[in-house]
Amino acid sequence: MSFKLPTLALVALAATAFALPGHAAECSLTVEANDAMQYNTKSIDVPVSCKNFEITLKHTGKLDAKVMGHNMVITTKADYQAVATAGMGAGADNDYVPVGDARVIAHSEVIGGGESTSFTIPVGKLSADEDYEFFCSFPGHYALMRGSLNLVQ
Ligand code: CO
Repeated sequence: MSFKLPTLALVALAATAFALPGHAAECSLTVEANDAMQYNTKSIDVPVSCKNFEITLKHTGKLDAKVMGHNMVITTKADYQAVATAGMGAGADNDYVPVGDARVIAHSEVIGGGESTSFTIPVGKLSADEDYEFFCSFPGHYALMRGSLNLVQ
């Protein structure tokens, strides 16, 4: 009789997970960045059912933030190049993000190898009719370190 208990417990756990309202597990994502100036994804889907979407950025490399720093900035696709350029001017003290710039929907701080950081996108700021971009605004990185961010059902 006792050998059946673990199976029953697992079934109960699985049922609980699927029964959770709002599919909480889908409202967060971990993205890795490395010393080769790359994210490990080119596309991020944000479910419209999430109030907030949390992204954890994990730098899996070894290089210092001053040499190979990475962050993540969210803007519309139309704005990302101009914001990346403005970010260079904002400098390291501002995480290479223009201060008080309404084009910036959300952003993380800059991290170096072995570090990680999290930030939150208020999903209500995203429109299904708009195309969004995520990118690293560390000087010289945005051409390689970018991808599309999409609001999905
Ligand atoms: Co970078």
